[in-house]
Amino acid sequence: MLRTKDLSPLIGSELTIDADTLLTGIHAAEIRELLVKRGVLLIRGLDLSDDQLRTFTATIGKIREGAIKEENGMLKVRHIPGAQFWHIDGAYTDIPPFATVLTSRTLARQGGETEFANTYAAFEDLPPEEQEQLSRLEVLHSMKSAMNNAIPEPTLEQFKSWMGHQGVRPLVWQHRSGRRSLVVGATASYVLGMNSVDSHEMLQRLLNHVTQPKFTYRHHWQLGDVVVWDNTGTMHRARPFDLESGRTMHRFAVEGTEPMTAVPLTRAA
Ligand code: OGA
Ligand code: MN
Repeated sequence: MLRTKDLSPLIGSELTIDADTLLTGIHAAEIRELLVKRGVLLIRGLDLSDDQLRTFTATIGKIREGAIKEENGMLKVRHIPGAQFWHIDGAYTDIPPFATVLTSRTLARQGGETEFANTYAAFEDLPPEEQEQLSRLEVLHSMKSAMNNAIPEPTLEQFKSWMGHQGVRPLVWQHRSGRRSLVVGATASYVLGMNSVDSHEMLQRLLNHVTQPKFTYRHHWQLGDVVVWDNTGTMHRARPFDLESGRTMHRFAVEGTEPMTAVPLTRAA
């Protein structure tokens, strides 16, 4: 059994485990289960090398080779435009990454925390009738929607490349486990079949609901921390920091295994 401590009541657990034990993978099944249950896992002061970080990530699942990959799937995160707004990574792809592993290499002088929100807990907190209504809705997610926050006046080339990444997703993700989570955030463009004002209001209201303090955890980075999040049951954002400070994170993502699917509709005959 792993030693764990809750970071906040509804999201986040700190694990106490040494690097050698972690890298053997003997606790991998337990870690995956804990990740889905708690949304975010923190291991303080592990100080893994890039190779060790890759080895650890591979115990969780298949390493994702993203579009902007560097060094065998590892990304050096310095500035991801739009990452300071709440989002699910790759919500516009059919099968978003299952998990992301992030470690701090250079800290921001000030700010630069990462915040997480539990989208399962936020859904489960809604009244049953609202859960059912929302479960019937679909949302267009696009890279354009997320990137526009950071780059409001893109070139036509930028705009066109963003538009190559979009897709309709259920507002409520029905996971194989039977649990449901809300799918909102910066990639959400509009609710299908709803007028623009109502659609924006609904998406804003739900985003504000999910990101209430009771569903969130804010991580203050120390050097060598390793944080893993379940990208299918949480949203995250980077808090503002001075880019000049050189804040650098090294990151691997794990392939998703579940397409975002809707709750099957049960219609009266
Ligand atoms: C990411 C991300 C946030 C951060 O790596 O996907 O959103 O705090 N990072 O760097
Ligand atoms: Mn992200």
